[in-house]
Amino acid sequence: MCGIVGYVGSKDSLDVVLEGLRRLEYRGYDSAGVAVLADGRLSTAKKAGKLANLEKELAEAGLPASTIGIGHTRWATHGGPTDRNAHPHVSADGSVAVIHNGIIENFAPLRAECEATGVEFSSETDTEVVAHLLAAVYAETPEGSGRLAEAMRTVSRRLEGAFTLVATHAAEPDTVVASRRNSPLVVGVGEGEYFLGSDVAAFIAHTRNALELGQDQVVELHRTRGVTVTDFDGASVEPTAYTVDWDAAAAEKGGYDWFMLKEIAEQPQAVADTLLGRLGEQGELVLDEVRLSDQDLRDIDKVFVVACGTAYHAGLIAKYAIEHWTRIPVEVELASEFRYRDPVLDRSTLVVVVSQSGETMDTLMALRHAKDQKARVLAICNANGSTIPRESDAVLYTHAGPEVAVASTKGFLTQVVACYLVGLFLAQVRGVKYADEVAAIVEDLRALPDQIRAVLSSMDPVRELARSLATEDTLLFLGRHVGYPVALEGALKLKELAYIHAEGFAAGELKHGSIALIDQGTPVVVVVPSPRSRESVHGKVVSNIQEVRARGARTIVIAEDGDDDVLPYADHVIRVPRTPTLLAPVVTTVPLQVLACEIASTRGLDVDQPRNLAKSVTVE
Ligand code: F6R
Repeated sequence: MCGIVGYVGSKDSLDVVLEGLRRLEYRGYDSAGVAVLADGRLSTAKKAGKLANLEKELAEAGLPASTIGIGHTRWATHGGPTDRNAHPHVSADGSVAVIHNGIIENFAPLRAECEATGVEFSSETDTEVVAHLLAAVYAETPEGSGRLAEAMRTVSRRLEGAFTLVATHAAEPDTVVASRRNSPLVVGVGEGEYFLGSDVAAFIAHTRNALELGQDQVVELHRTRGVTVTDFDGASVEPTAYTVDWDAAAAEKGGYDWFMLKEIAEQPQAVADTLLGRLGEQGELVLDEVRLSDQDLRDIDKVFVVACGTAYHAGLIAKYAIEHWTRIPVEVELASEFRYRDPVLDRSTLVVVVSQSGETMDTLMALRHAKDQKARVLAICNANGSTIPRESDAVLYTHAGPEVAVASTKGFLTQVVACYLVGLFLAQVRGVKYADEVAAIVEDLRALPDQIRAVLSSMDPVRELARSLATEDTLLFLGRHVGYPVALEGALKLKELAYIHAEGFAAGELKHGSIALIDQGTPVVVVVPSPRSRESVHGKVVSNIQEVRARGARTIVIAEDGDDDVLPYADHVIRVPRTPTLLAPVVTTVPLQVLACEIASTRGLDVDQPRNLAKSVTVE
């Protein structure tokens, strides 16, 4: 949450910074702002609302030509989404401009301290204290190279909470500095030009060479000296260099109206990429990147899957698969709850943290708690080099490519598939499944990309149905077994995209109270398991459809090809290909994504950037 861009080079900094902000806008869109440095003076522009508002203002008023600049797109925490609270924040003497992602927890005493020296604040943000402190500390820092970085270190040592801070100083025409604790920041290294970004999308159009920064580090970008990284005490640090494995085209809409539509369409390839190189020729799983020894994996006696939102739903699906394949007990927990209830963890507990962005603060804090308790932590993550995989004992990347739409789609499907890989790998290493059983499931996994393709090729009736639902104010989603998390995910997608009240229920639980919600015409979406599923779950769900229909519901049924048992009770049937029960969520979720996307579009809403949200939630 909050997107950050910094630039030093020879190009027009405003162009570079605005282009970076366009690519980072998914991280927050409550306001946007830029600062450029020219002829020893800082000039800023900032505007509440989406980046387009700022761009409109800049098109009219402009800023001086410059080759050094910073920019910010905001997801509001302290202080409402107003022009005044937009970043950058400038010190009272006009010498320093600062942008910030995160929360400075001790901002109140620091603000009081600044006010005691006569400083008048012009915003309600926590960030503004940094601008004033930095200006004051800079003035007291001895002259010489690295002065702004030294001032930033001094200020950073005083801050509590989570922050990425980027600053420029009017007296330093060649320098941008940044500081990082618990919030994301990457450095891009071009030919004689240097970039900062909350993620690599900020500079991918200019360079694919990136540097990873660790916790509590300060980086200086200098036009001639290049990149210098230190810890908060000034000890020099060698950053890890890497090459970004996707290009600018991957971050563009590619002809689709919305990033979300593009990302839905990319799912067959994304799932294929998650499986790539992990399915051996003999039908075995090859997960070399899981840096836990076979003995460690054999010693595991309990698994926790910990995540937030959509990733949590992937975890709920994982529980069915991992327990079924390995017979190890699995608990699934919301990351924001996990560490506050003192879970029982030890060396033989495997904690699987699932996060598309790798930066979600709740998940990161849960991970740290698990490590403190000596549990082994395996991350399932999409963003290479992000904080969560870096701090985990082992990582399985999903390789889904950049996910820009705020609502997760390909991120989710690939998380589910990666969870299957973890479960099956555990079963293989622990010898609880014979090689031919593992090979049979591997074959089923290989079939998934084509099955998703088949679903995507028959979505026209779903779009038509969606248009007829766009004026509803409530939709209910039902499922059993792995269909239950799919129902939760379908409801979440609809809530966040279309702002329609939606709830997901375990189909068997509805009769224990919530069935009272059903009225004449209430749309109820039911995820029906395969007729081949265990213990006649299928028959029970068919009964549940009858129960809601008898009370007036308009039933929308997602059922496998050839399942005619549902026909007498379905007002609408959405067909999906035959898929093994445990793997079915990978196909049954797709129509629900399309449904939510189309309903939101029909309602005239911004599908990629729903209100009040941000892509990467880096506050607790
Ligand atoms: C909903 C959605 C969110 C994220 C959640 C966790 O569509 O995208 O619920 O799933 O914020 O994000 P990550 O996976 O980045 O940790």
